[in-house]
Amino acid sequence: AAANVGVVGLAAMGASLARNLAHHGNKVAVFNRTYARTEDFMEHHGQEGDFYPARTVEEFVASLEKPRTAIVMVKAGAPTDQVINELADLMEPGDIIVDGGNSFFQDTIRREKAMAQRGLHFVGMGVSGGEEGALNGPSLMPGGSEESWERLKPILESIAAKADGEPCVMHIGPNGAGHFVKMVHNGIEYADMQLIAESYDLMRRGLGMTPDEIGAVFEDWNRTELNSYLIEITAQVLREKDERTGKPLVDVILDHAGMKGTGTWTVQCALNLGIPVTGIAEAVFARGLSSQTELREGAAAQHFSGPDAALDVPADQRDAFLDDIRHALYASKIVAYAQGFNEIAAAGKEYGWDIDMAGVARIWRAGCIIRARFLDTISDAFETGTADVSLLFAPYFKEAIERCGQPWRRIVADCAMHGIPIPCFSSSLAYFDGLRSTRLPAALIQGQRDLFGAHTYQRIDMPGAFHVEWEEPGHPEVQVSK
Ligand code: 6PG
Repeated sequence: AAANVGVVGLAAMGASLARNLAHHGNKVAVFNRTYARTEDFMEHHGQEGDFYPARTVEEFVASLEKPRTAIVMVKAGAPTDQVINELADLMEPGDIIVDGGNSFFQDTIRREKAMAQRGLHFVGMGVSGGEEGALNGPSLMPGGSEESWERLKPILESIAAKADGEPCVMHIGPNGAGHFVKMVHNGIEYADMQLIAESYDLMRRGLGMTPDEIGAVFEDWNRTELNSYLIEITAQVLREKDERTGKPLVDVILDHAGMKGTGTWTVQCALNLGIPVTGIAEAVFARGLSSQTELREGAAAQHFSGPDAALDVPADQRDAFLDDIRHALYASKIVAYAQGFNEIAAAGKEYGWDIDMAGVARIWRAGCIIRARFLDTISDAFETGTADVSLLFAPYFKEAIERCGQPWRRIVADCAMHGIPIPCFSSSLAYFDGLRSTRLPAALIQGQRDLFGAHTYQRIDMPGAFHVEWEEPGHPEVQVSK
């Protein structure tokens, strides 16, 4: 036994993580179900550090120093269960199995329980940053026991991305907490990407700008409070030319957005927790709509009448209009983050996780896909307790969203009039206005519910539950409970 850590699964993420570990002085056992992939890995990267390639799971486990640490980087779902069970059969009490895939947090809770019964530590860990991040410094979100965290900490801190010198990793909480936070990270990622896409659409169809011109706008925006990895890569994608046709790459890519499930889970969990994550939900639905071929082709065949998505913005007002889009994007983005953090807080309460929200924002500052300059400010807001109920209440974000208000409304109104779909912009604004309303039409809904189903309502002027005897003459009100 010679390796202090092992990696199972040498696809893109696993291979990058194994190399990252080796680059930081770890002795890394590597195993892949198909040995050819391990051989290929050794051929290309064997020189980069101390690797211990294993042909079988038995050999892999035997090559690990005790107490053992194995990081599993395989497909979420059944393949993960299979690997975990094989490892567990060969491991001993005190050993740690880390699942670094995008597993559903309820699976992680189940697995942690099963492994704990066998005396093993099971750590569900969110890993963000794609292949490049896994290699050069990801943002890491481990759950699991305190004890496993104490042991994993030095290894994980060495390989994590650094923000202002601080490693982007923290113990999120017990059992499934790490995977839950990673799931919401992905949900926010979806919203962020959709908002950027809506901004692009506004410039493209609304203003008739070219991808190159739009790329330049995103480059400019990346020097503002919007500074983030996703804005940066958007500019890069828009500047890219297709090598076959010479056209902008974005023009030859089929407009059907894929997804692997984490965004959907974020919305499903939010629904279960009763937390409105409208921005994330619209982003998931927008991807869904984009991929509904039959529906979209059918709609095209209908030749529905309506505005043609061209905004008539005079040349001398274009810059001002671009500024409006930027403000709408920023405000909607703040809403998406506020909603995502609300979901994490609600889950923390529901599952007894006690999550350090400021810490979550801090470890998202570098390495992960949603890394952005304003996460610094978000972490400050949680640190000072001003974002406890909503990020929108923290003075900095309150000021920002108020400053963005008018441009945001102009954009939403213009898009509605000209037929440009902006589900994420408009639903975020609707959420904000809902939040601002001292009185909502929910009172009417309560009345309807009482009329057709005797569901009762509460009154503004006294406690208790009430019901109107709708069938009785004079409609007397009865108090149903105190
Ligand atoms: C990350 C990403 C990553 C995720 C991809 C793909 O943090 O590195 O979130 O984990 O798998 O972004 O997600 P979709 O295929 O669902 O878009």
